[in-house]
Amino acid sequence: MIIVIFCAFLIYGCNPKQTYLSEKSGVWAVYDRECRKCHKVHGKGCIIGKFLFKIPNFTNTKWQDNASDSRLIIAVANGKGKMPGYKGKLTNEEIVDLVKVCVRSYYTPPEK
Ligand code: HEC
Repeated sequence: MIIVIFCAFLIYGCNPKQTYLSEKSGVWAVYDRECRKCHKVHGKGCIIGKFLFKIPNFTNTKWQDNASDSRLIIAVANGKGKMPGYKGKLTNEEIVDLVKVCVRSYYTPPEK
């Protein structure tokens, strides 16, 4: 029984009802459509994705500090690891905005 609950929890953790993003406008609608299924509303990916596919946690400040705009834009355009490339599918502006607006919005600057 505990195992069933645990599995349900894991699956739920990967697919919580994530609807509020679609209420946001602009490039968030693209994130919602293309990126959310792997990176999730909260940008942390899910535990299974993290171990199987190395999905990064966008809310990790250290990760953000080490990731340059150009690296991330190239990764989204050309694909990286298990992530497909979006060049041709999305416009260059959309790809840049996805990184600069969406991915960076998960960054919480350290308190000074
Ligand atoms: C099929 C699942 C999947 C989808 C859909 C997906 N990603 Fe990813 N993403 C990944 C995985 C897996 C990685 C880790 C790649 C690696 O380092 O091996 C990743 C990594 C990234 C990174 C970090 C790259 C780096 O250099 O560290 C960014 C930024 C990113 N994704 C943004 C996006 C954006 C924006 C979208 C929507 C256009 C998107 N992803 C859609 C799976 C996905």
